[in-house]
Amino acid sequence: MNQILKTNSFEPILLNKAEGSWIWDTHGKKYLDCESGMWCVNLGHNHPRVIHDMKKQLNEIIHRNKGFLTPITLEAAEELLKFFPNKYDTLTFLNSGTEAMEFGINFAKKITKRKRVLSLQDSYLGAYGTAKSSSYTSSEDSKLRIPYPLCDSEQCNCLEIYQPIIDDVFQNYSSEFACFVLEPVMVSGGVYKPCKQFIRYICEKIQNSGGLIVIDEVTTGMGRAGYKFGYQLFEIIPDVVVLGKALGNGYPVSAIITNSFLESKLTPAELYYVQSHQLDPLGAAVVKSVVNVFNEEKIVERSKEKIQKLKDFLWSLDQPFIKEIRSYGMIFGIQIQPYNGMTREEIILKFKNQFLEAGILIGYNVNREFIRLLPPLNIQDSEIEFLKEEIIRVFEV
Ligand SMILES: Cc1ncc(COP(=O)(O)O)c(C=O)c1O
Repeated sequence: MNQILKTNSFEPILLNKAEGSWIWDTHGKKYLDCESGMWCVNLGHNHPRVIHDMKKQLNEIIHRNKGFLTPITLEAAEELLKFFPNKYDTLTFLNSGTEAMEFGINFAKKITKRKRVLSLQDSYLGAYGTAKSSSYTSSEDSKLRIPYPLCDSEQCNCLEIYQPIIDDVFQNYSSEFACFVLEPVMVSGGVYKPCKQFIRYICEKIQNSGGLIVIDEVTTGMGRAGYKFGYQLFEIIPDVVVLGKALGNGYPVSAIITNSFLESKLTPAELYYVQSHQLDPLGAAVVKSVVNVFNEEKIVERSKEKIQKLKDFLWSLDQPFIKEIRSYGMIFGIQIQPYNGMTREEIILKFKNQFLEAGILIGYNVNREFIRLLPPLNIQDSEIEFLKEEIIRVFEV
């Protein structure tokens, strides 16, 4: 593997086939993919309809010069805009979540002619640029990443407690904020969802002060958080929505979605943005296909029962090394605590290896001390049963 830069660590197996919730290695061993790749294949790997539509597009046109559009790009845009529960009327297709987040934040900066970005403490918004500097993975601008209450109750008093923090931040920076960037459920940060009242209060403050709400739906979008989009958890209307990952179900396509009345505030020179594969027809064909599958197979509606099954099971676990279980939609986090002389890290790595051995790919974050399950939204009932059995077996320490 030395021919590959070690930008991260790699498991000593090679994968060469995938279908539905499963991935196979080169020795023919199969694994239930409870990370959905990188949380991308909400429809399962190689969904036959998406593969069919990609092949069709491959035979027609996959790429073109920036000065031209294609019919499939317009169709994909129309289908995706219709997929939203509230009205947006314009978008562009890009390639990665980070790229789309950078675009979304810069769009807000240009519209407001302001520079500062407000985010929450455990957000992960991207691998570089402002998206990274507003994430927990960077120490930059940390004073503008505010802590938040975790609460599912509508009648809570969280806001009373946290209001001074928010008010303090706004007192100092309100005229400088270009946007509030929200990851509706902080997934890589530890599976945390902030209190609804708290989020609604910040959103009101930011909009009253002339800033925009930019929602990072790269992970929570396309049904992952139990709704089509994670922002529906808070009943807010964002100005800009960013999609990635599951939008392409494994193919690298992302999008920023907004309204033309915001676009019209920018001159063509301010709006100018070009990269080689923006709006490419192959990515557009994938988006159109993915949205069609969501609609026709009622993916979000049908995922609810599966989510409940997994939730009921995980919440019934009562092992001494489990500190807490958190879940929102098809996003499950198991917080680990030291047990029997083992550190959290030892427990997490032990489980990761045992699951691998048992034919299950799980997610984990040693620094944040949790393991994670984000299987495809259309995971089969028999696969849920297999997962449950193996969790019981592996957790018998
Ligand atoms: C919430 C969120 N935003 C942005 C990104 C960045 O997306 P990408 O890795 O496609 O650049 C990620 C990736 O994990 C993410 O989880």
